[in-house]
Amino acid sequence: MSLADEIQKVARRYPESKSAILPALRLAQEEYGWLSREAIEEVGEALDLTPAYCMSVASFYDLFNFEPIGRHTIEVCTNVCCGLVNAQAVLESFERELDIAPGETTADGEITLRAVECLGGCSTPTIVAIDQRYRQSVTPEDVPAILEELRNV
Ligand code: FES
Repeated sequence: MSLADEIQKVARRYPESKSAILPALRLAQEEYGWLSREAIEEVGEALDLTPAYCMSVASFYDLFNFEPIGRHTIEVCTNVCCGLVNAQAVLESFERELDIAPGETTADGEITLRAVECLGGCSTPTIVAIDQRYRQSVTPEDVPAILEELRNV
């Protein structure tokens, strides 16, 4: 099934196609790994919406990527609850180990590191999402083992 077909299938669940914009963008990102201008246009065409509208919605959310990302993503929550147990040190540990800053991808294209807002796991900070699977209570000392594990996937 083509991406356009998948988007239109999802859109049929909603009273109007505009309401399917988020699942449609998500489908496009799953298909291509990130939302290029062409992908945004494809979403717009499938939903009969302008690319500008699609982009305005997509750019509001943190979960969409507008440039290619690594094979793996590491997202460190730096919001209040995680910040209180030193999420910044966890983030800095990833930065040191990977030799990149948040928002960057390693030179080999393997890992993208991001600092993000609350991931909804505030009761067990620091939360780190590895390829969208949450790790709880992560400390700076856990970082080398997490990366070792990830590199062997
Ligand atoms: S503040 Fe980090 S998960 Fe909510």
